[in-house]
Amino acid sequence: MPSDQSLPNIVILTGAGISAESGLKTFRDNDGLWENHRVEEVATPEAFEQNPSLVYRFYNARRAQLQQDDVNPNAAHEALAKLEKAFGSNLMLVTQNVDDLHERGGSQSVYHMHGKLLSARCAITQQTFDWSDSFDHTTKCPCCNRVTLRPDIVWFGEMPMYMEEIYDALSKADVFVAIGTSGNVYPAAGFVQIAKESGAHTIEANLEPGVTNALFDESLTGPASHIVPQWVDQLISKYAL
Ligand code: OAD
Repeated sequence: MPSDQSLPNIVILTGAGISAESGLKTFRDNDGLWENHRVEEVATPEAFEQNPSLVYRFYNARRAQLQQDDVNPNAAHEALAKLEKAFGSNLMLVTQNVDDLHERGGSQSVYHMHGKLLSARCAITQQTFDWSDSFDHTTKCPCCNRVTLRPDIVWFGEMPMYMEEIYDALSKADVFVAIGTSGNVYPAAGFVQIAKESGAHTIEANLEPGVTNALFDESLTGPASHIVPQWVDQLISKYAL
């Protein structure tokens, strides 16, 4: 669908903070530990090489947790789905999150730049498969029938996904909003600078100012489930959608 010239082009980047009220822990709010692990123990290619059992176990636990009955999208995820309905292809939703809460909240198009928990990837062909159960070094890959499956997650030191599409959208953005992300991890933390250089109005929506806060034109401070629906409703009524 072509974009509507009468509406602004919006790029939204979300991080762990948008899913915090859905019961998923953020990365840096718990003494720097992610579910009791240092990130280098579980989220690097080196960790997978040295201790694959731990890495499989860790992501199997995250995948199971995501599918528990008490983990559900919150009002912020739902508001972004409403924004997508109103703005169509003028909106690009990029997430650093590997959960599926945007999709369950109703968003149709979500760019998971750090991969997905509910997916497995063949380390040889790079083919991906929807995957909701546990898997490990004994699980046969559906494409090559060998034991080559790895979590479909972008680990530290690996290239995030969809970078070409994201940079293209940032270069055309009129509005850039970062929601629930601390601004510690690049390249995502650099998106605000790129959007600003393209002339976008930049907004940070977070529980507290992140490390790149000075680069934003506007700050919305508070829990995502309050500030995001408010902002979305204002934008929708501004454009009478
Ligand atoms: P962080 O844990 O670094 O930051 C989460 C941010 O959300 C913090 O700034 C919190 O203040 C904020 N926050 C917490 N609760 C909130 C709430 N209810 N409403 C709004 N904001 C809230 O997470 P990310 O910035 O997403 O990468 O981390 C980026 C990447 O680092 C992750 O994608 C992950 C990690 O290592 C990979 O796994 C590849």
